[in-house]
Amino acid sequence: MITENDLKILFSKEQIQEAIKVLGDRINKDYAGEELFLICVLKGAVMFMTDLSKHLKMPVDMEFIRLSSYGSGFTSSGKVNAVDISLPDLNEKNVLIVEDIIDTGHTAKFLVDFINHNFKTKSLKFCSLLDKKIKREVDIDPDYYGLEVDDKFLVGYGLDYDGFYRNLPYIGYIKI
Ligand code: IMP
Ligand code: MG
Repeated sequence: MITENDLKILFSKEQIQEAIKVLGDRINKDYAGEELFLICVLKGAVMFMTDLSKHLKMPVDMEFIRLSSYGSGFTSSGKVNAVDISLPDLNEKNVLIVEDIIDTGHTAKFLVDFINHNFKTKSLKFCSLLDKKIKREVDIDPDYYGLEVDDKFLVGYGLDYDGFYRNLPYIGYIKI
C-alpha cells in the first residue's frame, strides 16, 4: 500500500488552481457570446471539470461519461473501454471534452472519433489539465492543456493508482 509519505508533490493545489484559472480565461475569450457543452470524462476529470466550470461565464451545459483505459497498472493499455458513453444530441453544439490527462492519446482519439461519427457538432475541442506529450502513440493534441508533464505515473486531483488518491488536492508521483 502506497501512503501519502511515498508521494512527492509535482503540482501544489495553488499551482493547479492557477493553471485552471488561466485555462478558464482562454475558454471564456474563445467562446464569448456562444453556448458551451462540456463533456467530463469520468472518473479522472471530475475534480478538474467542476473547478474549471466555475470560471466559465457563458451558458454551460454538461454531461458525464465514463471511459477507462488504464486497468490497475502503471501503463496505459491502449484499449479504451467505454463503460458509459450515453450522450444527448450534440448536433450544432460547441462541444468541449474535459479530460484529466492525455497520455498515449488513445482515449482522446477514441472519443473525438466517436463524437464526430455520431454528431455534426458546431465545434469540437479537447481540454486536458495535463499533457504527457512524451508518451503519445496517436497523432492527437489537446486544443487546451494546463500543464505539461514528463513520463511519471501521477496521482491526485482525480488521477488514481488502483482507484485511490483521486481525492488529493495536489498532484504527486511515487518516490523511488
Ligand atoms: P491515454 O489513453 O493513454 O491517453 O490515457 C488516458 C487516461 O489514462 C487518462 O484519462 C487517465 O485516466 C489515465 N492516465 C494516464 N496517465 C496517468 C497517470 O500518470 N496517472 C493516472 N492515470 C493516468
Ligand atoms: Mg481519464
